[in-house]
Amino acid sequence: MPKILVCGRGGCGKSTLTAIAANTLSKRGEVFVLDADESNLCLSNMLGIDSEKTLMGYFGGKAEVKKALLSFLKSEGKEKTPMFTTELTFEDLKNFSSWRDNIGFIQTGKIEHGMEGCACPMGAVTREFLKKLKVKDSQYVLVDTEAGIEHFGRGVHEAIDLVWLVIEPSFESISLCEKTIGLISEGKHVKPYKVILNKVNDESRSELEELLLKRKIKVDGFLPFRSEISKANLKGEKLTIEDSNLINSIL
Ligand SMILES: Nc1ncnc2c1ncn2[C@@H]1O[C@H](COP(=O)(O)OP(=O)(O)O)[C@@H](O)[C@H]1O
Ligand SMILES: [Mg+2]
Repeated sequence: MPKILVCGRGGCGKSTLTAIAANTLSKRGEVFVLDADESNLCLSNMLGIDSEKTLMGYFGGKAEVKKALLSFLKSEGKEKTPMFTTELTFEDLKNFSSWRDNIGFIQTGKIEHGMEGCACPMGAVTREFLKKLKVKDSQYVLVDTEAGIEHFGRGVHEAIDLVWLVIEPSFESISLCEKTIGLISEGKHVKPYKVILNKVNDESRSELEELLLKRKIKVDGFLPFRSEISKANLKGEKLTIEDSNLINSIL
């Protein structure tokens, strides 16, 4: 079953869609959610899973990860580290991630200190983790990303099966979607994608569809603006919404 990368501009609703998809898919099988956003903090609240666990911690901490990555790079990729050789299953994930019902959760890691350096090691860990993760038929992996397109530069999409492009009613969002489609349609790692319009009403939905059509971008799913979503988010509460129709249209 698919490993899905959820992408789009900041605030377009990536984490919201991730939480709604996790709720919906957890009725069909096990769902593992990876929070690969190094900055934003509240996906765990949306999922109702209180957890500080990180992949960076699992791999020995940021300093160890940086050392391993440096020796990997210096050996021009010949010298493998355990981080990059061990295959992982959902059963393995249960030992070091947090679970609620059928939903597992871990963060790659967050920027914790000023001057600590860039987030590239976290991008590399996300990419290598996804490459090593084995997924069975009734299992789903949802990867919530940071705003924008930097993860594509880091090759995080290499081991991904499907990309969800989330668009809110803004020109920036449309432009970023077009740019992203270009990035995932070139080179060795061409990926299928689905386009989701979020925070729309009837008027903005048809305007957006028209603007996207001019760019030859077809819309696959819609999530209307819902006040219960913004209310829950204001208080940092769990999102309980499921949406089978939306998820069926974008799988
Ligand atoms: N469909 C929606 N209806 C109402 N509010 C929404 C909807 N989708 C997202 N939001 C709100 O928009 C803000 C940004 O959403 P979020 O999922 O955190 O975006 P991202 O992860 O892309 O940065 C949050 O306050 C969230 O509650
Ligand atoms: Mg987010």
